[in-house]
Amino acid sequence: MRRTFVEVHVSFLRAQHYNHSMGAKKKTEIICRCNNVSRATIEDAIRNGAHTLNEIFDTTSAGVGPCGGSCRRKLGPLLDYYLKHGQFPEKIVEDLTGKDPAKKP
Ligand code: FES
Repeated sequence: MRRTFVEVHVSFLRAQHYNHSMGAKKKTEIICRCNNVSRATIEDAIRNGAHTLNEIFDTTSAGVGPCGGSCRRKLGPLLDYYLKHGQFPEKIVEDLTGKDPAKKP
């Protein structure tokens, strides 16, 4: 059976809404644009024991790209939140202090 354009479009919109509400966006969100590292990859690394920024850099290559590590503003808060709460935040609040989170005491 052939579907009309409207039926196909409505189906597409429903799928988009479903994926969005199921956190699909979160899984495909790119944190490190230099090295194309997704949030899911970083969260997996943290779950598997990368509990310092240097360990995240080593296991995922996030944070060590040619831009100098602008994604560290997200990596630091994501890791801190996980270490404090044992789960990841819905939304990452970037650290805009200008300090490199890898060099925090
Ligand atoms: S965006 Fe991650 S190192 Fe550039």
